[in-house]
Amino acid sequence: MYLSKEEEKLLESDNPTIAKSMEILVALGEVYGADKLIEIKSAHISGISYQNIGDAGVEWLESLNAKVSVRTTVNPAGMDVFRWREMGIDEDFYRKQMKILRALERIGAELSLTCTPYYYQSVKRNDHLAWAESNAVIYANSVLAARTNRESGISAIAAGIIGKTPCYGMHLKENRAPNVLVKVKGNSAALIGYELGKILKYDEVPLINLPRKFSNDELKLMGAAMAATGNKAIFHVVGQTPEWNDFEIPTEKIELDVREIEKDCEPDLIALGCPHLSAEELLRIEKLLRNKKVRRELWLFTSRKLAKELEKVVRCIEQSGAKVFCDTCMVVSPATENFECVMVNSGKALEYLPKLRKVRVVFGSLEECVEAAL
Ligand code: F3S
Repeated sequence: MYLSKEEEKLLESDNPTIAKSMEILVALGEVYGADKLIEIKSAHISGISYQNIGDAGVEWLESLNAKVSVRTTVNPAGMDVFRWREMGIDEDFYRKQMKILRALERIGAELSLTCTPYYYQSVKRNDHLAWAESNAVIYANSVLAARTNRESGISAIAAGIIGKTPCYGMHLKENRAPNVLVKVKGNSAALIGYELGKILKYDEVPLINLPRKFSNDELKLMGAAMAATGNKAIFHVVGQTPEWNDFEIPTEKIELDVREIEKDCEPDLIALGCPHLSAEELLRIEKLLRNKKVRRELWLFTSRKLAKELEKVVRCIEQSGAKVFCDTCMVVSPATENFECVMVNSGKALEYLPKLRKVRVVFGSLEECVEAAL
């Protein structure tokens, strides 16, 4: 891989964090056949729950001795940093999680603690990014036509520090071309994504023919699920996503008929916000809960930035007895383990909750979830 003189100097830097970051980027570039490094607009770090990285991860983060050189945001942590007690998180976990957040702050990362960095900053068509967090990656590539590979937490930190990423995969237009046309029957965006992720082959980029126009919130749910049950980093939707018309229509065709999933347990927690809720979703939920009281636990997850912007809406939602938590989610927080059966409207949570939190899961639309809480 070609390196400029300046990049070569960074590789031999006296600062071990800078030298190591360059080493990581060069190694990645060589494995994936990149010919050079390219500048990025932003980085996004994932995998920062204490439960994810443990003491070894804390130690590694604390050893970093350089600042990020581009805007670098951070995925959800294992708890709401203010309301952790209410979530049932113990003091030991809280302290360890805070150590991680302080270490990230020390390198200059913004503690956005959200998996929807696309609501947090402006992202433009063809912007090169180095984002970890699969739902953010697939949304950025597909809905915003920005360009990012599925980074790991470590490679996102390295890219944030250097301000560059190796040019391969999603950064190159030709790799973004669809090679399979999918005709879909079904109404739930989350379930369509959930099933599609399972049936698509490793190197398949779908051009999806949907039965109706999906909102951006629905495209978010569909992409998150597809990236969770499959390895997908991009999809196109006929007539909808910005790049769908830039390529030839694939000749290979498949059909997908998505059915509802049967409910086999009574939820003791209803959890919405995987990926984190948008302003529109919070407004929809507020309307559904207005002048009502919940009789089951209803937890909503969004970013602190959005919760502050919509303070009044959040207050109205909480008057029903529902809780709006920030900085975390039902999948990354160990708090979910205190429940037995969780109802979600997310295909990603449907895939991960039984594996990571060992709970049973039932699925419903956002409206059905809120209804089940009342
Ligand atoms: Fe976000 Fe947590 Fe889902 S990080 S995409 S809400 S698993």
